[in-house]
Amino acid sequence: MESLIGLVNKIQRACTVLGDYGGDHSMPTLWESLPSVAVVGGQSSGKSSVLESVVGRDFLPRGSGIVTRRPLVLQLHKTEGGQEYAEFLHNPKTKFSDFSLVRKEIEDETDRMTGHTKQISPVPIHLSIYSPNGTCLSHPVKFSMPWFVYSVVNLTLIDLPGLTKIAVGKCISFSKMMCLLILADIENMVRSYVEKQNSIILAISPANQDIATSDAMKLAKEVDPTGERTFGVLTKLDLMDKGTNALEVLEGRAYRLQFQWVGVVNRSQADINKSVDMIAARKKEREFFASSPDYGHLANRMGSEYLAKMLSKHLETVIKTRLPSILALINKSIDELEQELNQLGRPISHDAGAQLYTILELCRAFDHVFKAHLDGGRPGG
Ligand code: GDP
Ligand code: NA
Ligand code: MG
Repeated sequence: MESLIGLVNKIQRACTVLGDYGGDHSMPTLWESLPSVAVVGGQSSGKSSVLESVVGRDFLPRGSGIVTRRPLVLQLHKTEGGQEYAEFLHNPKTKFSDFSLVRKEIEDETDRMTGHTKQISPVPIHLSIYSPNGTCLSHPVKFSMPWFVYSVVNLTLIDLPGLTKIAVGKCISFSKMMCLLILADIENMVRSYVEKQNSIILAISPANQDIATSDAMKLAKEVDPTGERTFGVLTKLDLMDKGTNALEVLEGRAYRLQFQWVGVVNRSQADINKSVDMIAARKKEREFFASSPDYGHLANRMGSEYLAKMLSKHLETVIKTRLPSILALINKSIDELEQELNQLGRPISHDAGAQLYTILELCRAFDHVFKAHLDGGRPGG
């Protein structure tokens, strides 16, 4: 029997696919009622790096400058075994098992949409990773387990372009007005992802910059003033000036959120150039906290692994609280889908028909699991 989060994830993916076919069903509303995690922050604050660490795989373009130029909607699916692979919505026939090719395809697909202008586009790229090395949240794992045991959690994660102070260099080639328009566009696009109540905000701020000027916190405060869906993440702790530390932030005194702040140490540009892998990077990160005179006392709630676990737990709580409203929507969707399928007389592509069936089946499965939870019994299966 699948976990609720696993089912939610599958429904989200099916909604996404179906979205491509249009239709007048309530899928968009259903999608919006399901939680996802969006990463926001200034340019080069470490957003893509954090996302990779949470996933436990190397596949995102990273680096200085504006590297992420289209939103990336990433879904992680736990499979029952077999090989790990990635698949793009724009190219569902190709299964990528080499993750460096995934990175290349993200870059190529970004360029396909934006041309060689290096501009930013609001059109998302959808990527799914299927992995047996995941953890079903119905089977909580102990934190002492090897990193790969919980490296793939069932989450929908969204990587976004930086809230940039960019383009100072770029602006030269545009008029000032044009430049301001582009900046406003990016901010509005990012805001459109995080203003929805279903969005869990991973707000990334670099520790070597003043938190008071953090783009991430500025936007988070605007769309989530009470901080109930914002996770504050402090990157680049290793790059702080000697003799300074980030305890004011990490201990919640500088900027109060409902959740504890998490500090992380991602790979540096030198590490990336040397192709330091995820296992080595996480080991180094753990050692950094364990051996730090400043952060040693916080070591057990710092780092990417802890962040991934905290997010998964939170996601599960959110889904449980929202179950009644999600279920109502799902039942509405089931009705609409059944109607839609009954009208197969009207033109509908084979693929769209198949997708409708998939969603219908998933909704029914969800309904079943949900009712089993309500009955207090463990879902059979
Ligand atoms: P994004 O633009 O916010 O997505 O940031 P990236 O993840 O692409 O990272 C930007 C640059 O900062 C890259 O060169 C990373 O190697 C570097 N970086 C990110 N996080 C850290 C960190 O915690 N420590 C160090 N030393 N470098 C980091
Ligand atoms: Na960057
Ligand atoms: Mg990025």
